[in-house]
Amino acid sequence: MTPLPRPRLLAAALALAVGSACAGDADATRDLDAELAALAAPPGLDDGGLTNVSADLDAVLERGAIFGACDRWDAGERDRETTLLCGKWMFFYGTFRGAGPPQVLLEMLGRELPASVGHGWSGVGQIPDPYHDGLPLGWAPSYDAARPGGEPAPIAAMTCAGCHFAQLPDGRYAVGAPNTRFDYGRQLLTLSLLPRLLTGEPASAHAPEAVAEVQPVLDELGDDTRQRLLAALVPILQAGVTPPGATDPDVERAQAGWRPGTLDTFMAPLQPDDGVDIPTRIMALWEIATDEELAAHGMPHAMLGWAGGSAGVAEFVDFFVTWFGDREAWPPERQAPLVAFVRSLRRPTPPAPADQAEVERGKALFVDSGCLGCHGGPRGGSTRAYGFDEIGTDDALARFMDPDGDGVPCCGLDAGGGGQLTRGVKSPRLVGLWAQPRLLHDGAVDGLDGLFCVTTARPTVTAAGYGDGGHLDLCERFSPGEKAALIAFLETL
Ligand code: HEC
Ligand code: HEC
Repeated sequence: MTPLPRPRLLAAALALAVGSACAGDADATRDLDAELAALAAPPGLDDGGLTNVSADLDAVLERGAIFGACDRWDAGERDRETTLLCGKWMFFYGTFRGAGPPQVLLEMLGRELPASVGHGWSGVGQIPDPYHDGLPLGWAPSYDAARPGGEPAPIAAMTCAGCHFAQLPDGRYAVGAPNTRFDYGRQLLTLSLLPRLLTGEPASAHAPEAVAEVQPVLDELGDDTRQRLLAALVPILQAGVTPPGATDPDVERAQAGWRPGTLDTFMAPLQPDDGVDIPTRIMALWEIATDEELAAHGMPHAMLGWAGGSAGVAEFVDFFVTWFGDREAWPPERQAPLVAFVRSLRRPTPPAPADQAEVERGKALFVDSGCLGCHGGPRGGSTRAYGFDEIGTDDALARFMDPDGDGVPCCGLDAGGGGQLTRGVKSPRLVGLWAQPRLLHDGAVDGLDGLFCVTTARPTVTAAGYGDGGHLDLCERFSPGEKAALIAFLETL
């Protein structure tokens, strides 16, 4: 271990003086668990007995008990279980009357193109909805668009589960897990470009990279499906329900370039659009800090989002509803069950470690190496946002919501759900890392092995917004044995 550039020098020096000769034999006088107390789950977290992690998908959907829970909640049943069941329904099916493509487009593609789209959109990494053939969990019927002189056209929109529900490496389904298999860029392009190409727009009007993403779908469409799809879509499109999506080739090119699990929400076709391509990784939602913890750690608020500027889950949900839904129909009072549900999510239990002694060595190293200096907040998150130079990580995020860097949020954004500008990056909570194949805010690094450069050196990517050069100290400071110990420890969180 080379000299430490950062805090906790004293603790590290003491540890060396005490004698690390026999690292496996941790000093009996030290209470590592007390030093690492911030990594523990918040005391008293009450998940209402719901099943949020299971190999049985129907168990995670409470065997249908989430349906109707919000009717009961609206009718005044406000006990914890009903509230959380309603919040869970909102997580999976709540669109808040958000906009999106015609439902029939999602359904037909999700039923009839097993190779390119996959059943229930499993081909882009989503999980088919057992209660709605053709749709994945994460897309739900939203509202009926009025069609002058025709049948109403049902519109589908995305819900929280579209990005924050995933299958873990061990096969269990987990609510709150970032779906890093989800190729949002390809799905968006399929839903926006395909109808345009089918109804006669020339491919040359679009970015070649984007057309290439959609080509397998075009190739798989047989004549029959193509005719039926057109027959279903054309009257809807003629009635003025436009396919959502970008027509700007630069935006299309960016979407085609996003890795699965990373996306830029502040980009056309969605509003707000801050005009810069800053794809970030979908985050885990487990064990967000409680108010007591925020006070104990002197944090201004829950510091949500990678920039850490968003105040809390309630603000986050209200932001989502305000920008993507119908806030008049869904004021904060009616959002409350979803907020309570998200705050009730716990990390999935990690697999049992192969070598407990190695985990103990990693634990001691984590403390002695000064990691807690920045990862000492609730669940190992940071208590402030760091400058990009402090951590050597890709700095495109500095322009998040403020493309011209004048310190004023752009495009109609203000403090609150979108959040304050921090011009920095926080460390996320370090729980469930064993289940996350993609790391750092831009998702550019593959797993803990990649982060510690166990098999390959970094950086390999330097393109702005996509760089994998962050936290290189983890590659440089430690011996192979120390890296293995740190990784073994981190995988137990
Ligand atoms: C299209 C994908 C997508 C959907 C849908 C989505 N999110 Fe997210 N979520 C993200 C991404 C990406 C981030 C990281 C944002 C950033 O760059 O700061 C994130 C971050 C978050 C965070 C911050 C977590 C933390 O620890 O800082 C919360 C909370 C959150 N989302 C909740 C929700 C809720 C609740 C919903 C449904 C109302 C939702 N999200 C819908 C992609 C999505
Ligand atoms: C100077 C502050 C600082 C120190 C010291 C520090 N970290 Fe970090 N760490 C961060 C920040 C900030 C991020 C987020 C960077 C990003 O996403 O680009 C991060 C990210 C991480 C991640 C990836 C989390 C994820 O989900 O992507 C891991 C794992 C990690 N740090 C482990 C460690 C370990 C182990 C140590 C001690 C050897 C350590 N860190 C020391 C600030 C720090």
